[in-house]
Amino acid sequence: MPSTPVGAANMLPPGKVVRSLYIEQMLHIERRETTVSEDLNNEELFEAAPAILRANPRGFLTTSGGDSPHARLVQHVGIDADGTLWIGTSPKSRKVAQIARHPRVAYAVQDQATPAYVCVYATAELVDDPDTRKERWIAGFRAYFPDGPEGDDFILLRLRPHAVEVMDFARRIHPDPFGLIPARAEVD
Ligand SMILES: Cc1cc2nc3c(=O)[nH]c(=O)nc-3n(C[C@H](O)[C@H](O)[C@H](O)COP(=O)(O)O)c2cc1C
Repeated sequence: MPSTPVGAANMLPPGKVVRSLYIEQMLHIERRETTVSEDLNNEELFEAAPAILRANPRGFLTTSGGDSPHARLVQHVGIDADGTLWIGTSPKSRKVAQIARHPRVAYAVQDQATPAYVCVYATAELVDDPDTRKERWIAGFRAYFPDGPEGDDFILLRLRPHAVEVMDFARRIHPDPFGLIPARAEVD
């Protein structure tokens, strides 16, 4: 995923992010006093984001378009090498109507075990072409879209990221101040 340098969201300029060392014991995060700090680079962030997404196939997709932002749980069914995400849904859903008018979305996935999260800020597109629908179809969809990948009740969302934010204690991605802001990188 090509990118500009990573930064701490809203706090520090790109390339100036440092992190301190912390130790993790199960779900208990203990801060360790240290004078050591390391540069946090964008390669680490762009390895962490898809790793979190692959290990945790569901997240909250937030769209705009009504009186307030609108979030709902969905399952992503593909992550391309460039970070593009794929989600199957109903063309009659509110999210499809909202994306048609306001394509900027946020997609947030939590890893409870590590603990960690990634939020992908993306432009969403509606993808209706039959070949792509067949290519991205998974067997588990049948319960919700009984007419299959070519049915009228099924459409794909393609999310093209323009920024990612990550906080991941196991990978020590937690810019100072500890646990209060995520690392952020813009995607070219
Ligand atoms: C575990 C779980 C997984 C879900 N996965 C999807 C999904 O992949 N696609 C989808 O459209 N809805 C999925 N849903 C339903 C959505 O949460 C939501 O209720 C539905 O899509 C209607 O959303 P909307 O009217 O706000 O667009 C899932 C719900 C649950 C509980």
